[in-house]
Amino acid sequence: MRNIVITGGAGFIGSHVVRLFVNKYPEYKIINLDKLTYAGNLANLKDIENKPNYKFVKMDICDFDAFFKLMQDEQIDGIIHLAAESHVDRSIKDPFTFARTNVMGTLSLLQAAKLYWESLPEKYEGKRFYHISTDEVYGALEMTNPEGIEPPFTTTASSSEHHLAYGKDFFYETTKYNPHSPYSASKASSDHFVRAFHDTYGMPTIVTNCSNNYGPYQFPEKLIPLFINNIRHRKPLPVYGKGENVRDWLYVVDHARAIDTIFHNGKIAETYNIGGFNEWKNIDIIKTVINTVDRLLGRPEGADLDLITYVTDRLGHDARYAIDSTKLQRELGWEPSLQFEEGIMETVKWYLENEVWMDNITSGEYEKYYESIYANR
Ligand code: NAD
Ligand code: DAU
Repeated sequence: MRNIVITGGAGFIGSHVVRLFVNKYPEYKIINLDKLTYAGNLANLKDIENKPNYKFVKMDICDFDAFFKLMQDEQIDGIIHLAAESHVDRSIKDPFTFARTNVMGTLSLLQAAKLYWESLPEKYEGKRFYHISTDEVYGALEMTNPEGIEPPFTTTASSSEHHLAYGKDFFYETTKYNPHSPYSASKASSDHFVRAFHDTYGMPTIVTNCSNNYGPYQFPEKLIPLFINNIRHRKPLPVYGKGENVRDWLYVVDHARAIDTIFHNGKIAETYNIGGFNEWKNIDIIKTVINTVDRLLGRPEGADLDLITYVTDRLGHDARYAIDSTKLQRELGWEPSLQFEEGIMETVKWYLENEVWMDNITSGEYEKYYESIYANR
């Protein structure tokens, strides 16, 4: 495959995927298609924006005609689809935007790709539609104690390594969908459409479901960058409920590496779960982030623990996510490259060293930046 569209490439994960592909595959043409919503930021890609194999196109994934024309003009043979509304709290306030972008937008891409690829003599040969989804579609896992052991406990239930777990179940590729938030309901719906296009028309699709990502360039409405920025400014840290919810964290570059592996070597029509067997209670991750920021800023360790402020819980807050990624590890040989302690240190360092990136977003300056960049193209 040579001509690849990556949707949502100006966002958090998308920018890491674009960077990896542009640097690793100089022979490919990489087209970053992004509407540049509040979450899209071309400053995430400054280091590769002038590479000859990279092109940015400002487009809404819901614009069927524009995308169909792009497919034809650029002779697209691969699509890696990340564009989405991605924040659960926003979906609780405004579910319509999530249905429009995540469901209708995905359907629009699928239909345009179908019509274009079916018009070619080789049809679907050598083509690929890769849809990036989330573990949240599976719902929430219980915090259960096998054999009366208090969690967290170590388990070998699903991997060769011992790891901490807060329950005995995991999300498997076969786990029944059971989304709870408008965000996860919209992602679940889009996953079903992708699979339906394979089952009905024979489109070569792949779906992956990944756990929580952390790392550089994440929009500071999400837990880790929001809290790093608040600690820096000594602002309160709003912990939802009791802070006992469990999330399974993966370094974003490892997600991008998994996407590369699966795009090239994954089996058509398959689903792969992506995760690092790395479960954390929110409150424990928050204390780790506080201690890391304090250490790097030369503040006495724990000086900012008093910023922790327990607030009203998120509506429908899922208790626990835990991904079993054994299939991906066994079949395609992928594994996370970073231990969490290393990853969180790198992440905190990055946000503290890139204050301008953060301040531009929090001051609204980034919108002017990307408008000026786009005007020059
Ligand atoms: P993000 O919010 O940081 O970025 C989303 C990007 O999509 C932005 O650049 C935005 O401008 C673009 N976009 C939004 N609506 C668009 C539209 N209508 N047309 C074109 N572009 C549009 O999101 P993220 O955290 O990088 O997540 C990327 C994908 O990965 C999403 O599909 C999300 O569901 C999935 N995912 C995220 C995580 C996570 O922890 N962040 C985990 C698993 C899966
Ligand atoms: O699991 C994958 C999902 O991870 C992705 O599909 C989503 O796009 C991504 O946003 C993320 O969803 P979460 O809701 O888990 O991430 P968030 O950073 O919003 O919250 C992480 C946990 O921290 C969650 O239990 C809610 C809690 N939280 C979050 C914020 C923003 C707080 O306690 N306080 C906060 O201010």
